Amino acid sequence: MKSLLADKKILFGISGSIAVYKAAEWVRELAKTGADVTVVMTDAATRFVSSLTFATLSGNRVYTGMFESDAGENVTHINLARECDLFIIAPATAQTIAKLANGFADNLLSSLALASRAKMLVFPAMNSNMYSHAATQANLARLKEYEYSIIEPDEGMLACGDEGVGRLVEWGVAREAILSSFTPQDLEEQTVIITAGPTCEPFDPARHMSNRSSGKMGFALARSAKRRGAKVILISGPTSLGAPSGVEMINVTSALQMHEVVMENYNNADIVVMSAAVSDYRPEKIAEQKIKKGSDSIDLEIVPNPDILKELGKRKDKTKRPLLVGFAAESSDHLEEGKRKLKEKNLDLIVINDIIGKDTGFGTDTNQVNLIDRDYQLEKLPLLAKEECAYIIWDKIVKLLQ
Ligand code: PMT
Repeated sequence: MKSLLADKKILFGISGSIAVYKAAEWVRELAKTGADVTVVMTDAATRFVSSLTFATLSGNRVYTGMFESDAGENVTHINLARECDLFIIAPATAQTIAKLANGFADNLLSSLALASRAKMLVFPAMNSNMYSHAATQANLARLKEYEYSIIEPDEGMLACGDEGVGRLVEWGVAREAILSSFTPQDLEEQTVIITAGPTCEPFDPARHMSNRSSGKMGFALARSAKRRGAKVILISGPTSLGAPSGVEMINVTSALQMHEVVMENYNNADIVVMSAAVSDYRPEKIAEQKIKKGSDSIDLEIVPNPDILKELGKRKDKTKRPLLVGFAAESSDHLEEGKRKLKEKNLDLIVINDIIGKDTGFGTDTNQVNLIDRDYQLEKLPLLAKEECAYIIWDKIVKLLQ
């Protein structure tokens, strides 16, 4: 998949904070995606990390002064501002934020900010008292009025030894904000519930029945929905994956817990996507003590779990909300089984997985799926990265919403 950022012109403004060293990693990651990154540093920023570091990582000349004699251009700020697709300021210090909020143009960075009409992402980083000070908060509020996107800093231990809000966010958070700024916000104002991962059905304090779902498909769906502007609630069974940035994540273990949490939340949802591999059955009883090894076999009474999606399909009201998307994990008769589940569960869309191929289904980074919508329109997709697969599924959902 061609990166969303490939060939995008990104102007990367850096002001003077200890967090400048983190910006070096961001510039490196952006350059790796094929983005054309031009760095502009304030004098203070160059005290922390030299401009040579950023020139090497970006592969481009770094700008530091308004009237650099060797620039060959006497209106550097206008040219740089005109050419960029996105303007990032990270770290943004209290001083730089104050300049931007008050329209100052006393260095190259603040002049560029005034001259640019590109989308602006501001990543504050400073001591927590400076951040929470009424003056800084008023300045940030004003930047929001100017339609700058402010990515709130993290809370934690700061370089100065204080603990609080003010730490520059990690690259994963920045990456999502940057990708989102290049993504159509066609899920804005939609609340989306996504289920992911396996469920685990315990039968004693040490053991459970489960399946091989890693959660990768569901987490990719959650990330891309968030990028497209949705409010995302991710209900996940046990996985080793970290919560996607900006997503509300609710962890569950068993199918009964997943059922309870989905039922608590679905009334507020516009779209429900069930990509979790929910166990159809569970042991009826959970032994209080670990079952001792001894006999050749053990008796487990297995009872059916509630079918969460089928229940939602039954409840779907006349307004057709929430829009329901199911997944079908199939090893044979894929299309027939998919159609049967679409009808039986009253769905708007079913995503049929092949779980037999070695690069598709459980645990893989890629997936091969076919989509069948409520009008029985079939769309066959090739083997794709789960991330790309998720994008196409959302494209289809957006069409069904219209
Ligand atoms: O997590 P990964 O490793 O990335 O793998 C992804 C995946 C293969 C798990 C995923 O893409 C997938 O196919 N998920 C659905 C697996 C499944 O449970 O399929 P099913 O055909 O048994 O169920 C059909 C639908 O009913 C599913 O949407 C399922 O979430 C839902 N269901 C099933 C049983 C149940 N008791 N309640 C349900 O809601």
